[in-house]
Amino acid sequence: MRTQVGIVGAGPAGLTLARLLEVAGIESVVLEARDREYCEHRVRAGVLEQGTVDLLREAGVGERMEREGIVHGGIHLQFDGERHHVPMHELTGRNIVIYGQTEVVKDLIAARIESGLPLLFEVGDVRVDPDTARIEFVHDAEQQVLECDVIAGCDGFHGVCRPSIPADVLETFEREYAFGWLGILAQVAPSMDELVYAHNTRGFALLSLRSPELSRYYVQVRHDEDIAAWPDERIWEELHARTELDDWQLEEGPILEKGVTGMRSFVAQPMQYKKLYLAGDAAHIVPPTGAKGLNLAISDVRILAERLIEGSGLDGYSDACLRRVWRAEHFSYWMTTMLHKLEDGDAFDEQLQLSQLRYVTSSQSAKTSLAENYVGLTTL
Ligand code: FAD
Ligand code: PHB
Repeated sequence: MRTQVGIVGAGPAGLTLARLLEVAGIESVVLEARDREYCEHRVRAGVLEQGTVDLLREAGVGERMEREGIVHGGIHLQFDGERHHVPMHELTGRNIVIYGQTEVVKDLIAARIESGLPLLFEVGDVRVDPDTARIEFVHDAEQQVLECDVIAGCDGFHGVCRPSIPADVLETFEREYAFGWLGILAQVAPSMDELVYAHNTRGFALLSLRSPELSRYYVQVRHDEDIAAWPDERIWEELHARTELDDWQLEEGPILEKGVTGMRSFVAQPMQYKKLYLAGDAAHIVPPTGAKGLNLAISDVRILAERLIEGSGLDGYSDACLRRVWRAEHFSYWMTTMLHKLEDGDAFDEQLQLSQLRYVTSSQSAKTSLAENYVGLTTL
């Protein structure tokens, strides 16, 4: 088999890249390790920046997102028993759209299948060669070879593309956090009008949503927390304790899904080596507090697609991406350390966090800075 661009991974990065190339008439083959059902039901991110929304719309996969996506013009920061509004649209002219990553992935897979273009699920034993842009893999119990002009490594943090780059070429930066998030999807109308990021002495909580009938809520737990220790009643109790106000209360509903996600910050650079180009989680990870992971993955492939389409040279790809990546790394780290209960944190840390939160919610310029980062204006 031969193609122009061999894409490893059918997450948001790989599928969006395939679509952008298709629109421009460039051939690609997408190889995915898991089955379609699995890819379409992995509950992950939910916040799309305006730039992400515009790109999906321009690529002709925005129809359902336009109909079902929920536009928000602000977020709330809650601490010390009070909720403070950050009016992002007023401050930046930009909104965010709530539309689940699972829905983005479903729309992209449906479009690829409708176009009749190659998207192979359940491939095994994938080996990429950055020197020759040759990919070996097993599909339908048969050994296959895909010869490409270039390979796009969109196979996430645990994929095979990044490890195919020699260790002495790659510089990596990493920070692991002692905490993680326990996330639930609950069948109940969201109790709040916009997202609530709550700092609390019991730990952080986030109130988000997926639709007018589905709420997505998170509580900070240890990174290796055993989900079995969290029956539904305990999750609701903790959510109530961390988010309730004198005049506001969270509504409960059946929990449809729950899971624990650890957190890390990670960057591997350069994001390219010979004929291999990394994009999305394969090259970098952010803790989810800044809602940046999915948006960064999309901005990487936008840059890669532009360079492949215009023939404007792939040499500067990594540098062009890394500017945005490091901005998002800083913002995500800053949000995370301001809002979470810190491991080994003492009363001094707590006072610093509260002081920072008071500043961010009262100073016009600090609020604007947060809003610009959150909506993605600083990572353009
Ligand atoms: P991925 O979505 O990881 O896609 C990579 C794809 O490659 C997968 O389909 C995988 O099966 C496939 N693959 C892996 N290895 C191979 C191989 N050898 N061969 C072929 N295919 C392979 N971000 C937020 O902003 N908010 C959140 O709430 C949030 N929650 C998250 C929860 C979890 C559990 C995780 C892991 C991430 C979360 N993120 C969140 C981050 C966000 O989901 C990612 O940044 C986003 O998925 C990145 O997209 P991607 O396409 O780069 O990688
Ligand atoms: C989500 O809805 O899953 C979500 C929202 C905001 C974040 C992270 C996750 O910062």
